[in-house]
Amino acid sequence: MIRHDFRSDTVTRPSPAMRQAIADAEVGDDVFGDDPTVKRLEERTAELLGKAAGLFLPSGTQSNLAALMAHCGRGDEYIVGQMAHCYRWEAGGAAVLGSIQPQPIAHQADGTLALADVQAAIKPDDPHFARTRLLALENTLGGRALPLSYMRDAVDLARRHGLATHLDGARVFNAATSLGVPAAEVAVGFDTVSVCLSKGLGAPVGSVLVGEADLIQRARRIRKMLGGGLRQVGILAAAGLYALEHNVTRLADDHANAQRLAEGLSAFPAMTVTPPDTNILFVAVAPDVADAFNAHLKAHGIAVTSTYGLQRWVTHLDVDAAAVDAALDIVAAFFH
Ligand SMILES: Cc1ncc(COP(=O)(O)O)c(C=O)c1O
Repeated sequence: MIRHDFRSDTVTRPSPAMRQAIADAEVGDDVFGDDPTVKRLEERTAELLGKAAGLFLPSGTQSNLAALMAHCGRGDEYIVGQMAHCYRWEAGGAAVLGSIQPQPIAHQADGTLALADVQAAIKPDDPHFARTRLLALENTLGGRALPLSYMRDAVDLARRHGLATHLDGARVFNAATSLGVPAAEVAVGFDTVSVCLSKGLGAPVGSVLVGEADLIQRARRIRKMLGGGLRQVGILAAAGLYALEHNVTRLADDHANAQRLAEGLSAFPAMTVTPPDTNILFVAVAPDVADAFNAHLKAHGIAVTSTYGLQRWVTHLDVDAAAVDAALDIVAAFFH
């Protein structure tokens, strides 16, 4: 039985007030463009990100894929980080479904891509090569808020070389909260930005792709092709609107709880904690105790994930400071 679920910010359940917003939603057939709640969500998200238009999609994966396919055609290429979600964690969709070649680049220790590496990866116009069309970045990346100056420089580099730009902003509001700026600042210069409603914002489903109107129109056609044209989907858009209104400013609480967790876990020599920027915390557990420690957490109802030998603890609106303290007590019981 899971008592406190730190696996991901996707595990949140819709609150009673969000469920009420869902029940009250005005709806229509969104494929016909008739759903007023979807329209409001698309407009509101675009406005918050400083873009002209928005498109509601069922998932962040489909939103990224629709964006990549709107920017790139068959035989084109996108430059992307090795650990970027739209390269590594989306089942190769861009290549499989879009015939788009990824050009992955290793990240620097701080999560950025070295601009020299990006530049070196841009192919000259030569029939041997795929056509490099797009630079895709992600912020936050693995919970890290990448600096605005880096984002600006990367976008400028792309522009100078005639590339379009896409931002996987699944957690762009976490990035903005951590950087202390409005989300539109994080989105500056990007042609498209994908925003998830179903992560820290607490909605059950949904992402919004925002950008220039012609790109969003193209993505709308691709969404239909991918099977993402939904009908009376205002019931889900209502949850998204509720999330944007009520669950953005409280992301700071999640960040504070991740910090609290980081400080608590750092007290144990077997735990090497990477200080969190936002709501995602990575912990290396000493190999000699890792298996027993993981079993202890599981037996006491504390759920975390382990990837690449690191534990990942994620805070969100269904784990408060008391849950963090309860988890720390269970950790302490193992080490004492
Ligand atoms: C950075 C990032 N982008 C995109 C996605 C994909 O979102 P979804 O699970 O809604 O497809 C995720 C999901 O965890 C993510 O973390």
